Amino acid sequence: MKEQILPAEGKLGILLPGLGAVASTMIAGVIASRKGLAKPIGSYTQTGHIELADGKGDNYPLIRDFVPLASLEDIVFGGWDIYEDNVFQAASQARVLDQHLLNAIRPELEAIKPMKAVFDRNYVKNLDGKFIKQSANKWDAAQELIRDIETFKKENNVNRVVIVWTGSTEKYLEQSAVHETIASFEAGLKNNDPAIAPSMVYAYAAVSSGIPFINGAPNLTTDIPAIVQLAQKTKTPIGGKDFKTGQTLMKTIVAPGLAARSLGVTGWFSTNILGNRDGLVLDDEQNFKTKEVSKLGVLEDILRPDLHPDLYGELYHKIRINYYPPHGDNKESWDNIDIFGWLNYPMQIKINFLCRDSILAAPIVLDLALFADLSQRAGMYGVQDWLSFYLKSPQTKQGEPAENDIFKQLNTLKQVLRDMMQGQTQELPAAVNRAKATEQVV
Ligand SMILES: NC(=O)c1ccc[n+]([C@@H]2O[C@H](COP(=O)([O-])OP(=O)(O)OC[C@H]3O[C@@H](n4cnc5c(N)ncnc54)[C@H](O)[C@@H]3O)[C@@H](O)[C@H]2O)c1
Repeated sequence: MKEQILPAEGKLGILLPGLGAVASTMIAGVIASRKGLAKPIGSYTQTGHIELADGKGDNYPLIRDFVPLASLEDIVFGGWDIYEDNVFQAASQARVLDQHLLNAIRPELEAIKPMKAVFDRNYVKNLDGKFIKQSANKWDAAQELIRDIETFKKENNVNRVVIVWTGSTEKYLEQSAVHETIASFEAGLKNNDPAIAPSMVYAYAAVSSGIPFINGAPNLTTDIPAIVQLAQKTKTPIGGKDFKTGQTLMKTIVAPGLAARSLGVTGWFSTNILGNRDGLVLDDEQNFKTKEVSKLGVLEDILRPDLHPDLYGELYHKIRINYYPPHGDNKESWDNIDIFGWLNYPMQIKINFLCRDSILAAPIVLDLALFADLSQRAGMYGVQDWLSFYLKSPQTKQGEPAENDIFKQLNTLKQVLRDMMQGQTQELPAAVNRAKATEQVV
């Protein structure tokens, strides 16, 4: 990590397979922030600080002053979708942001038009878009995506590209033989193996071209040995899965607190209603299963019933998601948590979170894209598990357990940034220079 980090020179392309609610909310937010019309609230890269170890002077710089991140001014957006809507249309239809704000940045949003998607309805039954590549097989589809990326780079004069999957949740798939090696996966692409979902075709196209790929949905996608091996071979950062927003965000904030106070938990019932397109997709049992598996692991990992059988040995965890169109993107979630304390006396906690799904997800997409680009310039490749902070079901390096406690995840993220900057010979960013100057005076 102590090797020189390449500077964030030139433009960074952020390509998004899936230009729906989350992607359009993120893009509109970045453009509005650039124009001074809004603030990038919720984005750790834009508003967060980091403590530096010696505790002297101004040792609490902004993250973006401390590490060399691409600036919002230097980002160019693009993507793919199965609907031909440009980003203004997609954002208007998602009804997450005020039309007033969208109108103020309409030309910029209209200029971002999707490329034709690699899609197969067998993996997302509830969608029927027609803006789809007609490739002979999955291998050809991957080659077409690689050409799309090259064309995007040339047309936009972009130096670097990262891809964040903001496409729909695909049906549940388990790892199988075709996912085992690069060779078996490439053969599977050529044979149209049904265990290769469209998101995996995008991941293959990106990683084989050395382009970082982060998966924001609960699909397997990059979490298979073939893509992990490919990432090692092409020295490419990868990561996933599933943006940590809404109910799981709350869960990973509350559960570590209960565990810290040695309070027992017998049950945690979580239910949601949401009415956006994501909710429609998850209304299908096969697609819901993918989401359910991603959400279920969180509590066991944090509470560790294996270490604390008296406190969590009886834990019953149930999750439901219901499609309810009148709520649109404004998800409502309820949690009933049955806990117990001193001498087993029972208590209950009720959480009713009226959240906005895409408002919580948008800054995560931005941060993941910026950090994935930073990883690549810092020479870090393979699974970027230090980004678990943002993810519901973190992909880890082989055999390593996932960390779900949001506070431990944040500490890890900060420590990686500190390690990354240690021994850097490049000129230190302004805030850190200020801190050093104060130190000398003291
Ligand atoms: N909003 C959140 O809080 C949140 C949290 C965690 C994960 N996610 C995940 O993020 C993803 C996006 O969520 P959203 O609310 O924007 O959903 P959305 O339905 O509004 O957008 C997804 C878009 O992906 C497109 N799409 C589907 N398959 C595609 C393919 N193969 N290629 C290109 N485009 C494709 C769809 O047409 C749609 O426009 C979903 O998988 C969702 O589960 C969202």
